[in-house]
Amino acid sequence: MIADRAQFIRDNTRLQAPPHAPELVLHLADEITPIWRLTEEELGEIGLPPPFWAFAWAGGQALARYLLDHPDLVRGKRVLDFASGSGLVAIAAKLAGAAYVLANDIDVFCGAALEANALANKVDIAFAADNLLDAPPPAFDLICAGDICYEKPMADQVLAWLQVARDAGAEVLVGDPGRSYFPRDRLIKLAEYQVPTTRELEDFEVKKTGVYAFA
Ligand SMILES: C[S@@+](CC[C@H](N)C(=O)[O-])C[C@H]1O[C@@H](n2cnc3c(N)ncnc32)[C@H](O)[C@@H]1O
Repeated sequence: MIADRAQFIRDNTRLQAPPHAPELVLHLADEITPIWRLTEEELGEIGLPPPFWAFAWAGGQALARYLLDHPDLVRGKRVLDFASGSGLVAIAAKLAGAAYVLANDIDVFCGAALEANALANKVDIAFAADNLLDAPPPAFDLICAGDICYEKPMADQVLAWLQVARDAGAEVLVGDPGRSYFPRDRLIKLAEYQVPTTRELEDFEVKKTGVYAFA
């Protein structure tokens, strides 16, 4: 079992810039620190949930790029980064001038990754590991969700929850590279990017990825 999550993250990642949002740096796994190659059994033996936090997913990279390029959307705002993973969207929001950013992910390793990554970018970001889907969405000016449509039950639940947030007045942005359960016809596409990724985890080296708003 992993006693010190922060140390595990430092030992198994390299501080590097995600290719599509090079303004920030993240502790990411790569071919030198390939924790992606651990099997489910090996992950279970060391008590590590699948390390989503060790990779800058295409949806998150696109969303981070969009926030960095549109600071008017976030300046002075209260922002929630739902399903934060490494925290790249939360960090981009803060770098773009958000007043307060909460990163949320049910994996506690994401909390440790967020702490390390926020420190590396010299920004202050809060973290919550609660499952926010269990209650109505909290009040935020802007809710961001990067790459959350890879499993059907989760995608359906998150999208319905985000719709409630939108109906209550929040701006809602989703970054998605065409995952199977992403309902692109229901949302408004704001931007499209060619996002570099890795063949270790994805079907293409570069993924066409959109940033979408709830109408
Ligand atoms: C593909 S990763 C995306 C991470 C990050 N947004 C990015 O784009 O790099 C999906 C993340 O969703 C998180 N997740 C799954 N169910 C969740 C839930 N109910 N609440 C919050 N996060 C959740 C996982 O732990 C994982 O970190």
